[in-house]
Amino acid sequence: SPKRAGADAGDIIPGQRPRTLKTCRRCGLWRNATQPVPGAGARGAAIMLVGEQPGDKEDLAGLPFVGPAGALLDKAMAEAGVTRDEVYLTNAVKHFKWQLRGKRRMHKSPAQGEIQACAYWLEKELAAVQPRVIVALGATALGAVLQDRGHTLAAALGQTLDRGGIPVLASYHPSYALRNPDAQGRQAAYSTIVDALARARRLAA
Ligand code: URA
Repeated sequence: SPKRAGADAGDIIPGQRPRTLKTCRRCGLWRNATQPVPGAGARGAAIMLVGEQPGDKEDLAGLPFVGPAGALLDKAMAEAGVTRDEVYLTNAVKHFKWQLRGKRRMHKSPAQGEIQACAYWLEKELAAVQPRVIVALGATALGAVLQDRGHTLAAALGQTLDRGGIPVLASYHPSYALRNPDAQGRQAAYSTIVDALARARRLAA
């Protein structure tokens, strides 16, 4: 049965250094999630793709981008000529945050405190993978990667930003390209994702 919804960022334990993501209690999201979803891909992958947080399917599988957003991302990667084995895929937040609507666990946006708490893990992944280029999928990922909320996604699209010498490209989030109510909007968002991936591929070459 679904666990209780509504965890919030109230219980970050200052100075806590969990040894593994599995036992992470840096924020409260673990309580209602099935499991944390770590990044996936090779250390040394040239391109790191950062999403927002796992969705329903990812929470159950323990793997990033295996649901509908992942399918769209796969399609965009194929179109951009990027394969899953040259990327490391992860999320700004590692636990699924949701609220029950009817029988469905609906995605809930992570709070700033949760994103900040989880930056601990994103930083570890960046240090381990050392990608040549980072693609931030959506505003949450962009803020987490740049450790700064001053950049709006709209202003970042098409730009090459910098994170300590690593180029950072931004695109819409794949879920946005799925959810956008009008077909033209969906297509435009999808094209932005393909463009960012194609640019990442060129930068990583
Ligand atoms: N959306 C994300 O941001 N990440 C996933 O892993 C799945 C959906």
